[in-house]
Amino acid sequence: MNHRITLIPGDGIGQEVIPAAEQALRALGLPLEFQHADAGFEAFERTGDALPPETLALCAASDAVLFGATSSPMTKVEGYRSPILTLRTHFDLYANLRPAKTERFDLLIVRENTEGLYSRRERVEDGGATAIAERVITARASTRIVRAACQAARQRRRKLTIVHKANVLKETCGLFRRVAFELAAEFPDLETEEMLVDTAAMRLVQNPERFDVIVTTNLFGDILSDLAAGLAGGLGLAPSANLGDGRPAVFEPVHGSAPDIAGQGAADPRAAILSAAMLLDWLGYAEGERLRQAAYAVPHAGRTDATTAAVIQRCQEAR
Ligand code: IPM
Ligand code: MN
Repeated sequence: MNHRITLIPGDGIGQEVIPAAEQALRALGLPLEFQHADAGFEAFERTGDALPPETLALCAASDAVLFGATSSPMTKVEGYRSPILTLRTHFDLYANLRPAKTERFDLLIVRENTEGLYSRRERVEDGGATAIAERVITARASTRIVRAACQAARQRRRKLTIVHKANVLKETCGLFRRVAFELAAEFPDLETEEMLVDTAAMRLVQNPERFDVIVTTNLFGDILSDLAAGLAGGLGLAPSANLGDGRPAVFEPVHGSAPDIAGQGAADPRAAILSAAMLLDWLGYAEGERLRQAAYAVPHAGRTDATTAAVIQRCQEAR
């Protein structure tokens, strides 16, 4: 049976890198079926809906989604919510896997994807002079994300770093930390340690090769994964997977819509192609590894189409 993939380019360079990844996937000749769907800020301005119901229905009827990028306004726009956040919560995609790899280091950030400071519990008081965000941490979400991280570590170098700020956030990070150690005790074959998030940022910069799998809460994972991407050659090489317990899973480059370079055909397609490789891994196709090796081996020469062609050629030569 064919696997059905929904492609959502979104805004800006998403419109360039998702077709590039589609080309790379098609060139493999696998039993994949593609359908195209609309989402993003442009869709919102056009239709009043950042993630139209037709798009959600197409995603629900597919095995995997490859998502490009969307432009998120810096200030509140009535009725707009980033579609990637909606997809994560709608399909309960609680595990955000963000690998960062070079010749020197190879690490994986496992970011909790459904709660924390992304719980949308913000309000203003004092007529706008005070703003409050609530950070929701539950034992349930902490347990399942740490389990996903432990399972990933078993497939890798068996080292787990639990990242938190429990010295200050005694209740929320305290709960995450406690649950994490309880769960990690079920994986005695792993070497487990803990680290404060600020220390983790410093050590990532100074000594990234000391890490294997990092598990952390939503916003800390958001920040550390950009840091790790920066270390590994920039956002052009940073893929990610949003996984739940069922289908679909959603794969996306970590980079944004890059409006400054959009429309020029200059975007680096490798993060989208590497995300497509993760999609293939997840569906159980061995070709994922070949596509990944090809994307890492080819430099970005400044043109989306040239880099894509070079990756495809490299991938075919490796067959
Ligand atoms: C990411 C992005 C998103 C996030 C934005 C676009 C809402 O930065 O995937 O890391 O904050 O999760
Ligand atoms: Mn981010």
